[in-house]
Amino acid sequence: MQFFADDGQSSPFALGRSFMEPEADMGANEITTRPLTKADYDHIVRVIDKWWGGPTSALAHPVYFYELGDLAMVAETDGVMVGFLLGFIAHRGPTGYVHLVGIHPDYRRMQVGTRLYEGFEKAAARNRCTSLKAITTLGNEGSVRFHEALGWKVEEVPNYAGPGRARIVFTKSLSN
Ligand SMILES: CC(C)(COP(=O)(O)OP(=O)(O)OC[C@H]1O[C@@H](n2cnc3c(N)ncnc32)[C@H](O)[C@@H]1OP(=O)(O)O)[C@@H](O)C(=O)NCCC(=O)NCCS
Repeated sequence: MQFFADDGQSSPFALGRSFMEPEADMGANEITTRPLTKADYDHIVRVIDKWWGGPTSALAHPVYFYELGDLAMVAETDGVMVGFLLGFIAHRGPTGYVHLVGIHPDYRRMQVGTRLYEGFEKAAARNRCTSLKAITTLGNEGSVRFHEALGWKVEEVPNYAGPGRARIVFTKSLSN
């Protein structure tokens, strides 16, 4: 039986499945993306520390759902949330800014992040963005490799987040 959340969208919460313990036979060969709901946001703040492997929940500030969440997305397979992207349009440019992305650890290297980024890039282009941008901390090699694989430019910027706080800055032009 299929259940639906209040907003009429298929809800993995209503199915009573645990996002943290997906069934073993669930593949990621049919990954779909859709807009983020409040139920999704509530789930993300519960799992994000585990998905990232450390305290990260402060990065999922509610402003990225309530005020800046129009283009935020989740990825699902078989009704299970396997990834999310919190991104928004920054006026300068305008630029499609990816603030936070997380993929369920059991579903990495299955193109989930790629699907989310493809969806966000299309949405950014529809909103007349000329570029995309994201940042990460030094040492996040998985993120660097991921962005490189998707054709983003990678640059280490000293003092980006304040004195002595360098960041890796990812950019991608959408003008071509
Ligand atoms: C980085 C992250 C978003 C990648 O998501 P993903 O769904 O696993 O990525 P994809 O399967 O779409 O990968 C696409 C390509 O990127 C590259 N890639 C992705 N993760 C990689 C890793 N850990 N090491 C090396 N290359 C990687 C590969 O070329 C990959 O293609 P392949 O699997 O066919 O070789 C995910 O690992 C994650 O959530 N990490 C923790 C949180 C984080 O670092 N977020 C980003 C901060 S900016």
